[in-house]
Amino acid sequence: MAKDLYDLGEAPPLGEVPRKMHAWTVRAERFGPPEQAFQVETVDVPELKDDEVLLYVMAAGVNYNNVWASLGIPVNVIAARQKQGEPEDFHVGGSDAAGIVYKVGKDVTWPQVGDEVVIHCGHWDRNCPVVRSGEDPMYSPTFRTWGFETNYGGFAQFAKVQAHQCLPKPKHLTWEASASYLLVAATAYRMLRRWDEHGVKKDDVVLVWGGAGGLGSMAIQICRAVGAVPIAVVSGEDKIEYCKSLGAKGCINRKEFDHWGMLPHWKDNVGYGKWLKGARAFGAKIWDVLGEKKAPRLIFEHPGETTIPTSLFVCDTGGMVVICAGTTGYNATVDLRYLWMRQKRVQGSHFANDEQAQGANDLVLKGLVDPCLSRAFSFDELPLAHQLMYENKHPHGNMAILIGATEFGTGATAADPHLADHLPLPEGDTHEDNGVRVTPQAMPQLGLDSQPFEGTEEPAIPSDGTRVRDLMHVGLISAKPDSTVQEAAMMMLRSGIHAVVVVENEQAVGILTQTDMVLARQGRAKDEARQVKVRDAMTPECMTCDADTPLSDAIATMTTHRADRIVVTEKKGGRDVPTGILSMTDVIRKAIAEDA
Ligand SMILES: NC(=O)c1ccc[n+]([C@@H]2O[C@H](COP(=O)([O-])OP(=O)(O)OC[C@H]3O[C@@H](n4cnc5c(N)ncnc54)[C@H](OP(=O)(O)O)[C@@H]3O)[C@@H](O)[C@H]2O)c1
Repeated sequence: MAKDLYDLGEAPPLGEVPRKMHAWTVRAERFGPPEQAFQVETVDVPELKDDEVLLYVMAAGVNYNNVWASLGIPVNVIAARQKQGEPEDFHVGGSDAAGIVYKVGKDVTWPQVGDEVVIHCGHWDRNCPVVRSGEDPMYSPTFRTWGFETNYGGFAQFAKVQAHQCLPKPKHLTWEASASYLLVAATAYRMLRRWDEHGVKKDDVVLVWGGAGGLGSMAIQICRAVGAVPIAVVSGEDKIEYCKSLGAKGCINRKEFDHWGMLPHWKDNVGYGKWLKGARAFGAKIWDVLGEKKAPRLIFEHPGETTIPTSLFVCDTGGMVVICAGTTGYNATVDLRYLWMRQKRVQGSHFANDEQAQGANDLVLKGLVDPCLSRAFSFDELPLAHQLMYENKHPHGNMAILIGATEFGTGATAADPHLADHLPLPEGDTHEDNGVRVTPQAMPQLGLDSQPFEGTEEPAIPSDGTRVRDLMHVGLISAKPDSTVQEAAMMMLRSGIHAVVVVENEQAVGILTQTDMVLARQGRAKDEARQVKVRDAMTPECMTCDADTPLSDAIATMTTHRADRIVVTEKKGGRDVPTGILSMTDVIRKAIAEDA
């Protein structure tokens, strides 16, 4: 007679599904660091839809997804699902898994009960018009990351997946290695192979950021498999041999350069020149590594804000920068001149569809891509694995957790093809460097139910009721567009102010700040700089706001434009007439410093 619940590691007879299972769950009342949020509970084994499969999980992979799920930010995944009509008040995460099929829905032709499979985390509704039309299901509004945005992921004895998510388990790999790679491998595969004319091909030079990381290690191997020439960027000499053993032609240590970050202003000849020197030196290093003067046709991007300007600069004419994340920040700055004149492409990419997941898995099946498993954990250590990730103390490479498998190193049933032999990751290499967080992990950008054009209301942000008129300086000190920068500078010095409003026909047409003046001086002789006309140095189309605007809105306008001040207007005779100025100094002094 079938049991209601099996002990962990006691596999039920093949095809026999108990009513209950052991699962690592997260609940809203425990949201917080993983060691607080995850607890083992006994929950019902889920029912299947006709296109679904029940997997007896042997091992599951570890990803940042479930660190965010445990914290409950930026979305409460449980509440989001309940809003969509799902009854469960708990989350069973896990977006990578390997195991044995125990039951299939009536429409499922493959896999069948007893098949050993790995799971990719692309989940969508087969009845969605986008999916039915044959369009890429990654464009479907029903796309969800399984085990993060859906329930019943890999962190329980049984997982519920859609049949199309299943792929054959590589016979030469252990359960834990099988569970560790598909999320990153499929993401890297789509980035490198999906984008038509920019799909990676033989002899293409590809620059791979974070070559020793989860995505980077997959990207290097995928490039090698097609005969391309990957060059890896790393942050330490100790990772160079490792990346080379994966197939990198050579490596660049990013610590040798210091031009990272957003682009300096294009008017800043000196700052821009300094940045350009750094970017050129980085490009020259690529040539060094290659042994020829060839630019990368593809740039494999995920650090984001700090590296995008360089990525775009070093990308070959007609090449592509493909981006799946903004780990260091989301505000990417682009020098459009290089983009259009050299006809480069910036392409966003997110996870993968079935075809790409299969493409990635095929390379693993053939032994051409190794999972790069860095550390495996026991079932009881699941919170620890996520806690290490939360604290950035986890090793590079991919991690996995035993679920149904009782011992490490089991599950391999065939000889290793040995095609992708490589060195182990450098000893002791974690995401933390002497206590310093080296990968400021960005949160996933979107909430579960975010549809870009749905809902017109702004998120509710509390305001303290302060208006611009409460802090502004009343009265304007202004300059004419045809005055010289020298004349404007004298006016500023005499009045002890940091900017003048440029007025023409009683309208504010620009603002000349100290920064604008410094920019006018950059790269010019002193006398030449003095004679620059205000209209050529000012920041045009000056930002204005009404005196009755909430202070928080005015601050948002200033920070969006990286401006330190905004011209305040008031309605007079049907026109917006400039009557004062609001500066960041006022905001700091009056709104923060005086309150403290
Ligand atoms: N959209 C998707 O479908 C998708 C899928 C998977 C992952 N992701 C995202 O992609 C990002 C990378 O994932 P991963 O698994 O590869 O993470 P990972 O294993 O932590 O590797 C990231 C690598 O980036 C490098 N790095 C860190 N800070 C950097 C900086 N300031 N400049 C340049 N490189 C830097 C590090 O290598 P060095 O220190 O050696 O340079 C690190 O090894 C994460 O944000 C992840 O959430 C997105």
